[in-house]
Order: sequence, then C-alpha cells, then structure tokens
Amino acid sequence: MDFSSVKGKVAIVTGASRGIGEAIAKIFGENGMKVVCAARSVEQGQAVADAICADGGDAVFIQTDCSDVSQIKNLVDKTVEHYGKLDGIVSNAGIGQGGSPLHEYEMEDYDKIFALNSKGVFAGMKYGAEAIFKSHSQGGFLINVASIAGIIPQRGQALYTATKHGVVGMTKVAALDYAPYGITVNAICPGYTKTSIFGNAPEQALTFFAKDCPAGRMGNPEECGYLALFLASDLARYITGAAIPVDGALSAGHQNVSTWKHPLFD
Ligand SMILES: NC(=O)c1ccc[n+]([C@@H]2O[C@H](COP(=O)([O-])OP(=O)(O)OC[C@H]3O[C@@H](n4cnc5c(N)ncnc54)[C@H](O)[C@@H]3O)[C@@H](O)[C@H]2O)c1
Repeated sequence: MDFSSVKGKVAIVTGASRGIGEAIAKIFGENGMKVVCAARSVEQGQAVADAICADGGDAVFIQTDCSDVSQIKNLVDKTVEHYGKLDGIVSNAGIGQGGSPLHEYEMEDYDKIFALNSKGVFAGMKYGAEAIFKSHSQGGFLINVASIAGIIPQRGQALYTATKHGVVGMTKVAALDYAPYGITVNAICPGYTKTSIFGNAPEQALTFFAKDCPAGRMGNPEECGYLALFLASDLARYITGAAIPVDGALSAGHQNVSTWKHPLFD
C-alpha cells in the first residue's frame, strides 16, 4: 500500500510519551508526517520526538496536560505557530480506572477520568477541527483512541466504559458534522494491548488476558499505529464515523462454546 499521501501532513498525537501514542507518533514520523508529540512528561515526551528526528523525521514535543482544556488549546495554537497548519489530531491520552462495582467509586474518580478521557478528547476534537478548517487542509482527520469498552461495557469499569462510549458517540456525531467538508473522524478501539497499563500486572493476569482473547494473545501498540496511519492517509477518505476494534476478535462476540471444534479441523 502506498502511504505517500501522508507526507508533509501535520498531526498532533496526545499521550505520545509511551504506549499506543508513542507507536502512532513514531509510525507517523517514519512515513514523513510532521508530528507534534504531546504529553506531560518532558523527559519521555522529548525522547519520543528526538527519536523520530534521529530517524530522519520531523517532530517536536509540547508539554501538555490533556485534562486541562486551556493546555489543549495552547497545544493546537503552538502547533499551527510552529508548522503553519494542522491536518489532524489523534486524541489518545487516556487513563483506565476500574475493577470495582459502581458504588465503590468516589465522586472524585468521576471528575478525574471524565476530565481526561471525555473533556480532554472533546477539547482536542473542537480545537483540532477549528485549526484544520482554518488550515484549509485537504485530507484532514480526527482520530480518537477509544477502547473496546466504547463498544461493549466492561464489568467493574463503569466510569471508563462511560467515557469510552462517550468518545465513540462524539466520534460519530463529528463524522456527520464534518463529512461534507472532507474531514474524516474515526475511533480506534484497542483490546488488551501491551503497554504500561499492564506494566505491573502479574504473569498470571497477562496469561488470562491472552487466553480471554480469541486470537490467543495481547496486541502490540504498533497494531493500533498502523491503523492510525491508514486513517490519516488519503486511502481512507471514505472511512468516517467508524469505531474500529483492534482486538483479535475480543469484541466480536462471546467465546462461551470454547470446546467446540469444526469437524474439518479435527
Ligand atoms: N493498553 C490497552 O490495553 C488499551 C485498551 C483499550 C484502550 N486503550 C486506550 O489507549 C490509550 C492509550 O493508552 P496506553 O495503553 O498506551 O496507555 P499508557 O499509559 O501506556 O499511555 C498513556 C499515555 O497518555 C499519557 N497521559 C496520561 N494522562 C495524561 C494527561 N493528563 N495529559 C497528557 N497525557 C497523558 C501518558 O503519559 C501516556 O503517554 C488510552 O486512551 C487508553 O484508554 C488502551
């Protein structure tokens, strides 16, 4: 596939200091996009931008706390100041919180997770779309990193599930809003993906996640990165309003008839 249409496109990636955001930023950089890496950690975020430049790409780091709307506006303004335009934004920064029944969450948990996963994504889409319009971008895009929790509710994850369903909803509405103007809006919905989210998980838990997935393994962050590259390219101009799972069929259905085998495979 020819991804040369992305060359020279300017894109912001939030939460680019590690995990899925880092993979997306690096894959964008490798393919000739100008990448603005946004994250809170100066050390880690700058290291990702430096690695892209060391590989012959073009990237800068802008320190941003994506749970603060004014910092997201500043991120978009600074990007346009630096590169002269904006073609797309990947709103990836997000936190997980879960593993308890709804009543055990505190009200403060609600504010914390909604500030980043919902309000932060809304602000990225709003200020991103404004700048893409002003840039008269041909082939503009908004990509949100949601989750399979945006498609299928996850037990014990009331707040995370609510935010990710909200992201999928906003994605679809914005796709309707911007389709006449040629700006695509899509959500990537990762399943169990090997990032720092699972950093402290015991081996037993990782084995469980791999087994729970029909593909029999966890995903790699790059598998989301290549989908983001495709969605950013002009090959995907007719794909908009989609929430696309990258999950080894985890969200496709139940595996409860797990012992059944097709006779042809015996
Ligand atoms: N890893 C998975 O299995 C998985 C599954 C479904 C969805 N997701 C989603 O993918 C996205 C990325 O997650 P990940 O697995 O790469 O996690 P990660 O923890 O490895 O990376 C998260 C990134 O977001 C950044 N971040 C966190 N809070 C921030 C803030 N306030 N401001 C700016 N940046 C902030 C972190 O610094 C980091 O760069 C999240 O939205 C997450 O909900 C991940």
